[in-house]
Amino acid sequence: MDKMIIKGPAKLNGEVSISRAKNAYLPILAAVLLSDKKITLKNLPELRDIKTMIKLLQNLGVEVEKEGNLTHFNPGTLSSHEATYDLVKTMRASIFTLGPLLTRLKKAKVSLPGGCAIGTRPIDIHLTNLEKMGAKINLEAGYVEADCPQLKGTTLRLSFPSVGATENLMMAAVFAEGETVIENAAREPEIDDLANFLNAMGAKVSGIGSSTIKIEGVKELHEVEYEAIGDRIEAATYVMAGLITNSEITVKDFNPHHIDFVLEVLKDMGAKLEVGENFVKTYPSKLKHAKIETAPYPGFPTDAQAQMLALMTIAEGTSVVAEHIFENRFMHVPELNRLGAKVDLEGNVAFVEGGHALKAAPVMCTDLRASAALILAALSASGDTLIDRVYHLDRGYEKLDEKLSKLGASVKRVNE
Ligand code: UD1
Repeated sequence: MDKMIIKGPAKLNGEVSISRAKNAYLPILAAVLLSDKKITLKNLPELRDIKTMIKLLQNLGVEVEKEGNLTHFNPGTLSSHEATYDLVKTMRASIFTLGPLLTRLKKAKVSLPGGCAIGTRPIDIHLTNLEKMGAKINLEAGYVEADCPQLKGTTLRLSFPSVGATENLMMAAVFAEGETVIENAAREPEIDDLANFLNAMGAKVSGIGSSTIKIEGVKELHEVEYEAIGDRIEAATYVMAGLITNSEITVKDFNPHHIDFVLEVLKDMGAKLEVGENFVKTYPSKLKHAKIETAPYPGFPTDAQAQMLALMTIAEGTSVVAEHIFENRFMHVPELNRLGAKVDLEGNVAFVEGGHALKAAPVMCTDLRASAALILAALSASGDTLIDRVYHLDRGYEKLDEKLSKLGASVKRVNE
């Protein structure tokens, strides 16, 4: 199992280019199943979750061919409606195949998902709303079985703006009869990206960027080549890497507006930042405490909470972090405390007593974003921090060791 050794405290410099967003490409890959025409995707990140989704498409009969930074898909050869447990169990995003399979093949059988251990993560919002569109759904032996001769457009009001449910329902609505209206839809930038992708191949999605998304059903789609947006969470992580190491680095090739909220909090903490059209530059800054609570977009993203908490350990004063999206998303706290941080947990609120220099210790990754927090802390801690179970990081951070090394950090991957 791979481990990483990071020597700190690191001083970074230079530029880092952000990869295309995993959370944009996962639903877009599922949307490949909608079409029977050729689809080309550009710069798919080399990540475990992306590879798993491609394997899932191949298992369903889709032909996939790589050519440099392009990946070509021929979904005309789709031959199965069943997403099996062996692949789905490793990645929750597999549930995205439910809507596209059901609307294209009129039936779908998708294993109930696994994925990150950050809470119970039910899929009731996906299922009840597919039922409202006319699907018959059965949960049987760990599988969701759905069928419907023709999904029908209707008004759906989500009980919570779930990202995955919004995406699944948008895809299901592409071939539904008439208009589907999704109220209280999630507004994350990855949803706009999926809508833009669907429209680029001939779907009719409007209301992009708002909490009411409308999809007018169409009869067929056409060929498309598409490139997803930059990964805003990866970008936020590198901006925080610049700040936790008191360094001047440029984080580029993404849209800084996608992390407006995070940048505002950082500026309030005293971070000196230059924000350009497609980059953010960090400067050495003296940081003070802050209070954040996670919320659906455009609020503070839960996916950047762990990294922010790591940064708060070096900021002056006591910071407060409330997690409102996932109930089990503080697994980084005991690990950060092993590195000398002083963080107390009370339910879904963490109190971070900042200003204590961190010291290297062996730590363990527990989920994707918790692992990113440990990387940040290790960059700031003095000594060699040994980080175990880095496979969690490989799910979401493309070429992390390479990118950090290029910025001047001492990062070594070892296999023991
Ligand atoms: C997506 C992101 C994930 C991010 C999350 C919140 C992908 C592949 N993953 O996950 O990185 O942390 O958005 O920004 O894009 N819920 C229900 N019932 C449902 C669906 C969700 O109760 O049917 C609850 C969840 O348990 C959770 C909350 O809603 O508490 C948010 O979940 P959701 O927005 O659906 O997140 P994901 O799509 O799983």
